[in-house]
Amino acid sequence: MHVRVPLNRPELSILPQPASIVREEGYFQLTQDTVIVTDQETQAIGTLLANMLAPALGFLLSVLTDEHTHLPTISLGIDSQLAHLGQEGYMLKVTAGQATLRAAHPAGVFYATQTLRQLLPVEIFSSTPVSRTWTIPAVSIEDFPRFSWRGCMLDSARHFIPMQEVVKLIDVLAFHKINVLHLHLTDDQGWRIEIKKYPKLTEIGAYRRETVIGHARRPQGYDSTPHGGFYSQDDLREIVAYAADRFMTVVPEIDMPGHAQSAIAAYPELGVLKAPVEVATTWGIHPYLYNPTEAVFQFLKDVLSEVMAIFPSTFIHIGGDEAIKDQWQDSQQVQALIKALKLKDEDELQSWFLSQIRTFLAHNNRRLLGWDEILDGGLPSGATVMSWRGMDGGIMAAQSHHDVVMTPTSSVYLDYYQSNDPAEPLAIGGYLPVDKVYAFDPTPTVLTPEQAQHILGAQCNLWSEYVQTTEHLEYLLFPRAIALSEVVWTPKERLEFSDFRGRLAVHEARLASLNVNFRPVEKLDQEQMFPARADLVVPGGF
Ligand code: ACM
Repeated sequence: MHVRVPLNRPELSILPQPASIVREEGYFQLTQDTVIVTDQETQAIGTLLANMLAPALGFLLSVLTDEHTHLPTISLGIDSQLAHLGQEGYMLKVTAGQATLRAAHPAGVFYATQTLRQLLPVEIFSSTPVSRTWTIPAVSIEDFPRFSWRGCMLDSARHFIPMQEVVKLIDVLAFHKINVLHLHLTDDQGWRIEIKKYPKLTEIGAYRRETVIGHARRPQGYDSTPHGGFYSQDDLREIVAYAADRFMTVVPEIDMPGHAQSAIAAYPELGVLKAPVEVATTWGIHPYLYNPTEAVFQFLKDVLSEVMAIFPSTFIHIGGDEAIKDQWQDSQQVQALIKALKLKDEDELQSWFLSQIRTFLAHNNRRLLGWDEILDGGLPSGATVMSWRGMDGGIMAAQSHHDVVMTPTSSVYLDYYQSNDPAEPLAIGGYLPVDKVYAFDPTPTVLTPEQAQHILGAQCNLWSEYVQTTEHLEYLLFPRAIALSEVVWTPKERLEFSDFRGRLAVHEARLASLNVNFRPVEKLDQEQMFPARADLVVPGGF
């Protein structure tokens, strides 16, 4: 028995805000008679839409490829005349008789379906049947993204993120039109990707003996509890396919030459010291670097070959950050290499090191992406820079015709505190409330229009040193990742925080139904009550 309940209808609360939306007269009625009609190229998207709506409807809409139905339709299809809306733009028109979703490419049709879900009453996100009749307001929407790189980085290395959580987050992020999931898979504290040729990377490198308690700068001992886990290659293939169905690219990161302690724990001969070391149990910068030898390059190429066989992403992230050079400085063999190569110093050696990797990736039709330290000692040709220590690295790279993804700590590091409330859970430091994320502009005004073309977009980064549970992970992500989604999708002139905040207040019911943990918008009103915390210093040297 289905009881008619009044559905919550806060109209047109869409996140991210579309480029253009006009409310027309009337409503489309979605009932059991409604069918989804698709063309060949959008059939899978139609099926995905039917599956997404089914729990709250209590029935599965039929997906047909026959246009000649007399039934009311949600019509999906490719229309090459919409090429001006780009690879991901779409048109969505709802009238009393039909909902029409069109785009020049399938990605746009997918994004149209995600907008359509948000035009329905918020109860459509319920996991149990709510009603058999639903209304969708008549609208005309034309929409397209501001940037092609709309990313989010998850750090599975510091605390392992279970497979089902990664899959859940792909759904939630794609719902907000995020199209890049950057997975940080290796670090000093854990190696999280199965590599068949080097099984010890996960047998040894995926587990640490224990973990520091409290903040690494004020340690309160160790927890005596082993922590670990890794994704099998099959797991990762499943993640990649699940994301691809939602038009999201998974970009893997294999960090080098630093953040390599877990690999060196597994295979000490990869390190400069060639001495045994444990997987790291505390946070911060560790001195273990790969040794720049032929054997180590062969290891890295073998690893990257397996990585490339799993991840079709054009970009392969090789880290490059925070590689303090003490071990290279102290090694006679490394110093002899610097001399033989006629390099100035260890920074130039890092540049040379990464150039070897860049060439290898290029031979495999892949592009090297790295943190902005890859500028030190000279940027390898063709490299793309992820600018995190502010915007300057990205500006320099764009000015020298390199592509850039903007991820400055001050605007998009979601491991920072989102409130001065003393009750906030322990974080690395820093202060990044949601309105500060929203105010972020990825395109620096100093760039010429030609240079600005090199800004592919932006992403938020969630480092997991202090994130031990999926609830906490989601709490840090939401709503700040949604603010970022609007920054990278919506035309700049349509961004307005108070309007975003109003839509977010409606949107929270959707997140709650999707079982997503988030920091409630009402808490923003309390923020003035809390004095700025002196201890929320920007964390240097992490
Ligand atoms: C970084 O935050 N170390 C890229």
